[in-house]
Amino acid sequence: MKQVPVNLSDRSYTVQIGTGIIQRTAELLADTPVAKRKRCAIISDDNVAPLHSAPVIASLTSAGIHVDLFTVPAGEASKSMDNVASLCSQMIQAGHDRQSFIIALGGGVVGDLAGFVAAIYYRGIPFVQIPTTIVSQVDSSVGGKTGVNAPEGKNLIGAFLQPATVIADVATLDTLGDREFNEGMAEAVKHAAIADPSLLDALLDLQRGDHPATEEIIARNVAIKARIVEADEKETAGTRAFLNFGHTIGHAIEAAAGYGNMFHGEAIALGIRAALYLSEKHAGLDPAFSQKVLAALQHFDLPLVLDDKPEFRDESLIPRLQRDKKSENGMPNFVLLKEPGSPVLSKFVTNTDITEAIEQLRSTY
Ligand SMILES: NC(=O)c1ccc[n+]([C@@H]2O[C@H](COP(=O)([O-])OP(=O)(O)OC[C@H]3O[C@@H](n4cnc5c(N)ncnc54)[C@H](O)[C@@H]3O)[C@@H](O)[C@H]2O)c1
Ligand SMILES: [Zn+2]
Repeated sequence: MKQVPVNLSDRSYTVQIGTGIIQRTAELLADTPVAKRKRCAIISDDNVAPLHSAPVIASLTSAGIHVDLFTVPAGEASKSMDNVASLCSQMIQAGHDRQSFIIALGGGVVGDLAGFVAAIYYRGIPFVQIPTTIVSQVDSSVGGKTGVNAPEGKNLIGAFLQPATVIADVATLDTLGDREFNEGMAEAVKHAAIADPSLLDALLDLQRGDHPATEEIIARNVAIKARIVEADEKETAGTRAFLNFGHTIGHAIEAAAGYGNMFHGEAIALGIRAALYLSEKHAGLDPAFSQKVLAALQHFDLPLVLDDKPEFRDESLIPRLQRDKKSENGMPNFVLLKEPGSPVLSKFVTNTDITEAIEQLRSTY
């Protein structure tokens, strides 16, 4: 098993990564802030609960912990204030109080939702992340951003709450569909590009189902995310924004496709290609590095060419970029790479540059 520390003074915790470790959930809580707690609310979704809750419940129950399982429907729509209110009520009715703790068992949707419930339930109780997707293991379970969507936009309501620990079991990834598995790897490729270029070699060598190699890759990703979060926990210093590499144009493509039509990671793959182009142009990035990043995305069957569809024409994409919530003075603060593993924030990306970058996405790679 691998352990990656996240050092945030009194909010520090360990990310525990292994294969088949959810069977030992109770044991893995021993050195964490929830160690002595005897009541647990597991929050999961209706895909993950039938697949992976049994070993978690069995482990906790045999350690004398009372467990209740609450599930929400799978999917982004479950990240809602309605579900927050409903989960709080269900937990109150089941007798959970400030001595209880929450386990988020599932992907990023469940992690963000359950984490937010933990942040406000009885003014805050501790929670544990058991992430079961690539996105949640390499990204969302670490860093303490929790929250839900508002009808007006994604992730607009939330709180910072660091988990008590994270238990990332790579065996749970075996039940993911190929498309879900691959899309998560877009974030791993992003991490490699902005912070650990040699991770690209490991990604290029990865075969699905290779648990030791997957553990290694998850651990390296968590270490990258941890370092960035440690330097800028609440996104006040600006450096946490480096995690947005590929996301400015990626988000515009995701939104233009219509949420749900294109997976987040698929849109981000295209956004990364565009950001690499802009990095070569404005920050002097070596094109050979771009090629390696693109090869890694291609290894996971991620799209690199923008389809010729009406929703992806400039008239649809460019206005969305001007509306991006990370915009300043109408123009996005672009994350560019000046060298492998060295991101910078650039204000010098113009509308013309963006149009050019999108045009380039229409050409074959
Ligand atoms: N808090 C953060 O820092 C942060 C960072 C990145 C993303 N996010 C959020 O994470 C969410 C996306 O996360 P996600 O990609 O994990 O999506 P998700 O939670 O919706 O999971 C994707 C799908 O896979 C299913 N699933 C999960 N684990 C499975 C397993 N082991 N086997 C079979 N099916 C499984 C889910 O039921 C769902 O249908 C978004 O809401 C995004 O905003 C948050
Ligand atoms: Zn992302």
